[in-house]
Amino acid sequence: MSCYLITGGTPLRGTVRVRGAKNSALKLMAASLLAEGTYRLREVPQIADIETMRLVLRRLGCDARFEDGTMAIEVPAAVGGEAPYELVRQMRASIVVLGPLLARRGRARVAMPGGCNIGSRKIDLHLKGLERMGATIGFDHGYLEASGGLHGAEIVLDWPSHGATENICMAATLAKGTTVIENAARDPEIQDLSAMLSDMGARISGAGTPTIVVEGTDALRAVEHTVLPDRLEAGTYLIAAAATGGDVTVEGARGGHLEIALSKLADSGAEVDAGPASVRLRMPGTPRPVDFVTLPYPGFPTDLQPQMMVLCAIASGTSIATENVFENRFMFVDELVRMGADIRTEGHHAVIRGRPRLEAAPVRAPDIRAGAALAIAGLVADGETELSGVDHIERGYESFDDRLRALGGRIERLDG
Ligand code: UD1
Repeated sequence: MSCYLITGGTPLRGTVRVRGAKNSALKLMAASLLAEGTYRLREVPQIADIETMRLVLRRLGCDARFEDGTMAIEVPAAVGGEAPYELVRQMRASIVVLGPLLARRGRARVAMPGGCNIGSRKIDLHLKGLERMGATIGFDHGYLEASGGLHGAEIVLDWPSHGATENICMAATLAKGTTVIENAARDPEIQDLSAMLSDMGARISGAGTPTIVVEGTDALRAVEHTVLPDRLEAGTYLIAAAATGGDVTVEGARGGHLEIALSKLADSGAEVDAGPASVRLRMPGTPRPVDFVTLPYPGFPTDLQPQMMVLCAIASGTSIATENVFENRFMFVDELVRMGADIRTEGHHAVIRGRPRLEAAPVRAPDIRAGAALAIAGLVADGETELSGVDHIERGYESFDDRLRALGGRIERLDG
């Protein structure tokens, strides 16, 4: 098992460039299943989750590989129909192949994703949406079996689920008739997916708004596409800069995709210069406390909640964090408390009493974002933190330790 050894106390300074968004690239790879041909996806990050999706595509008969930093995908005329458990269990987001496979082949068999460290992560909205479009979905020994020709439908999501919106959108591109998704997720990654689907010949409008309309078409074509920059990777480096009292410019970050997070960072005392293609953050003194509430986009992203908690943990007063998206996302708090943070959780609220400093301790990353947060805590803490479970972090961040080191962070990766 690999770990990071992190010595705290050095402010991060310099420039880091973000890669394409993991949460977009995964779905764009799944979207390639909708049409035969050669795809080239630029800026796909080289991380473990992308590798899992690459293996899923290969299992489905596609050839997917990195060529000079670009993901090249060859999709054959006939794709396979089964996403196996050993891959889906490594990454729940594999469920987004269900919509494209069903639309293209009329049937699909995808392992039921299990639980994960941030909650049960249900998929009922994905399934209800596809059923409204005419799919029959059954369960067989841990697998979802979906079949049926798809037709357009009006689908009102109970909650603006990111993944359900994407799965249904992709399925709707090849369905007969018009699909309307109400209360759709509005994330920039959905706009990116919509842009690629449109280039492929899909008729889709409203991505980025709560109502998405997709008129089904008979066939789509393969395309080239550049993945949009990763706002969550950008936000992580910006919060790391704030927590360490540093000065970091994140190139490629789109300020408009991080509006609420940047305004909370400004409330905490950071000087933020946000533009369309880079964001600079300087933190001149001790952070001030900030209250924040996670909500679907454009609300404060749940994926930046753990990192923001670290900033609050060293603020000059008491902050309250409210987590509305994932039920177990405070699970890492016990690890942060072991580093000296004063945090009390009650249901989906956390009261964080800022302390002047954190102290190094052996801690374990339970998931991608909490892992990044604990690394930031290590960069702040007195002494040397041993952070294990870094394979979680590396599911979502390319060269995380190298990038922090390039900004002056004292972090070393130990293998084995
Ligand atoms: C995606 C992102 C994840 C981000 C999340 C919210 C990917 C690979 N992951 O996850 O990083 O934190 O969006 O922005 O893109 N829910 C249901 N039924 C469903 C679907 C979801 O009850 O059918 C619930 C989930 O349990 C969760 C909440 O809705 O509590 C949000 O889930 P969703 O928006 O679907 O997130 P993901 O697409 O899984």
